[in-house]
Amino acid sequence: MDNELVLVIDFGGQYNQLIARRVREHNIYCEVISYKTPVEEIKARNPKGIIFTGGPNSVYLEDAPRMPKEIFEIGVPILGICYGIHFMVYGLGGIIGKANENAAAEFGRTDCEFDLSCPVFEGLKEKSVVWMSHNDYIEKLPEGFKAAGHSDKCPFAAIADDERKFYGVQFHPEVNHTEQGKEMLGNFLYKVCGCKGDWTMSNYAKAEIARIREKVGNGKVLLALSGGVDSSVACALLSKAVGDQLTCVFVDHGFMRKNEGDEVEAAFRDWNVNFVRVDASDRFIGKLEGVSDPETKRKTIGEEFIRVFEEEAKKIGKVDYLVQGTIYPDVIESGLGDAAVIKSHHNVGGLPDCVDFKEIIEPLRLLFKDEVRKLGTELGLADYLVWRQPFPGPGLAIRIMGEITREKLAILQDADLIFREEIAAAGLDRSINQYFAVLTNMRSVGVMGDDRTYDYALALRGVTTTDFMTADFARIPYEVLEKVSVRVVNEVRHINRVVYDVTSKPPATIEWE
Ligand code: XMP
Repeated sequence: MDNELVLVIDFGGQYNQLIARRVREHNIYCEVISYKTPVEEIKARNPKGIIFTGGPNSVYLEDAPRMPKEIFEIGVPILGICYGIHFMVYGLGGIIGKANENAAAEFGRTDCEFDLSCPVFEGLKEKSVVWMSHNDYIEKLPEGFKAAGHSDKCPFAAIADDERKFYGVQFHPEVNHTEQGKEMLGNFLYKVCGCKGDWTMSNYAKAEIARIREKVGNGKVLLALSGGVDSSVACALLSKAVGDQLTCVFVDHGFMRKNEGDEVEAAFRDWNVNFVRVDASDRFIGKLEGVSDPETKRKTIGEEFIRVFEEEAKKIGKVDYLVQGTIYPDVIESGLGDAAVIKSHHNVGGLPDCVDFKEIIEPLRLLFKDEVRKLGTELGLADYLVWRQPFPGPGLAIRIMGEITREKLAILQDADLIFREEIAAAGLDRSINQYFAVLTNMRSVGVMGDDRTYDYALALRGVTTTDFMTADFARIPYEVLEKVSVRVVNEVRHINRVVYDVTSKPPATIEWE
């Protein structure tokens, strides 16, 4: 790839991905790499700029993450954020102190004043709110640096060495609470690093299509299509690149939302690909008979999925390439950190063992979710596919508490559709990141007409989140919840009570199983 490159060097900060996304939003390609990456390797990639992330450590501690001093000698502009500013100061001979009664820690919204002659703050308001989160502070600047911003408690909220093009901010410009954060990053990228902004999804599509064509030649390509955003966009891209050399296998396990299987089929029927829809619902329901434990459900569905896929792949014959819808956050998470496994996630991408093929193609490997969506639109995918909310691999099977029956599945599909319709009608479908209905295995007493009922309670779940690792329950207006509740108990048999889940994640998870 010959795009301009900015490298985000990760010191263990919780916002590392967010920084990278912000840079990409400025149409500049960037990658997150570990602070352990050798400086020679960094230099060889010829970055236009480097950003040091924050991190939980104190730079003066023995096991704090540090880079060799040569990183300051490769002649590339650097912006240090939070821990990154401390590392920069410390690494260049300044002093970092621990917060005490003279210089206290700062957390949250903080008023700051900036020196507008500093290129990072050029053209901005002199005073604005920033988001601080630090215990340590800069006691003494290294030679060549000057203050470029301050708060009440922090004389060095921003620092600058214009000669070497080293800049640092004690606060987090990448979070939305920092009022002018976006502009500050933009100034660093465009005014300091001299970027032009050549990262767009239309350029990406062109380059990636050419790359895939060259790689695949006249080989055969296989893709497991789930109907989710990632596999749909991967399918569209591959279709443009290699047309009917591509076979998409859509395993319909029967736990899709109402009408969803047909929608996915309709979406790709007219594309230039071999589209295979396997209706395997009987097999899946059969396998799950008598199963009520969530983990057993997931594992059973995962295994059966692989079996069905394998059988279909065999029918196609020799395949050269298998497509996976891996996206950049997966790459960052698996390569740089270690996340605890709370639930064994089943992703349709994870199939390499069961099919004989030469190589894997991961055409979305470098993209964030919002970029995947943009690319989908660029490639001509319909909005309802591009903006589809995440849907777990095991589908509604993990939204029916306990044992699954066809009747319960039908009840949940109908109720879930009503919820989705009302959320869309209220114009909330893009602001609530995920919303769905759960059929609980709890029955309670109700009264309908003059009759006593003893039926299921339906739970509604709606969350706002950026990364799905943590989430808050969505503040859906009562009027909308009321409409859903009234419609569900009137239109769906065997539900006599509707509740709304007001738990955040943690301590709850987004799904109920
Ligand atoms: P939890 O319930 O762990 O969910 O808070 C976080 C996000 O992951 C989705 N999810 C899954 N996605 N396979 C998937 O591909 C799965 O098995 C699975 N389980 C949960 C969930 O919908 C939410 O977006």
